[in-house]
Amino acid sequence: MKNIVILISGGGSNMAAIVKQAEKADWAHRLGARVAAVVSNKADAQGLVFAREHRLATAVLDHKAYPSRDAFDAALMAEIDRLGGAGSMAGQPALVVLAGFMRILTPGFVAHYAGRLVNIHPSLLPAFAGLNTHQRAIDEGCKFAGATVHRVTTELDHGQILDQAVVPVLPGDTAATLAARVLTQEHIIYPRAVERLLSGG
Ligand code: GAR
Repeated sequence: MKNIVILISGGGSNMAAIVKQAEKADWAHRLGARVAAVVSNKADAQGLVFAREHRLATAVLDHKAYPSRDAFDAALMAEIDRLGGAGSMAGQPALVVLAGFMRILTPGFVAHYAGRLVNIHPSLLPAFAGLNTHQRAIDEGCKFAGATVHRVTTELDHGQILDQAVVPVLPGDTAATLAARVLTQEHIIYPRAVERLLSGG
């Protein structure tokens, strides 16, 4: 089995979209792949409820309990490799999927998962890396916004673009209404990009 480990910090709707697509498109039989575990840095992340209901292995590592970013990332790597190694031929997760995981990762973490680490960002990268993407797009007068699935490098919200979706910015939009419109598209492009990676495309 190719094991996927998904990292979340909050609602986990992208994680849920990937889990649902894995079931619907039968990744287990078609691609020999499965979502093996969901890991959160927040104990109260809403997405953990969905993950537990779907009988996925879950783990919580609170970054505040670690003395440094390096110490947290080392513990996180160990947990991902433990959960992602179980039942896999390689003894390693095939893919680590950041889905609203709101932590900056150390170069060591990124190097450890080189070629196996992807993220979704709520803007049309390379525009609007970082936080508050929707408000910034509105403030700039953008007519279009969107989301990007990309490989992860040590540079924040950077790396090869795997898929993108575009939505209009409408008159009267707030950050919340725009975010909701973009999120609907994220739920389409993220499962699709992951499926493509698993099938070697
Ligand atoms: C998504 O919009 C995702 O693109 C964004 O957080 C949201 C998580 O929603 N990620 C980032 O901002 C990463 N810098 P979800 O928890 O419901 O998937």
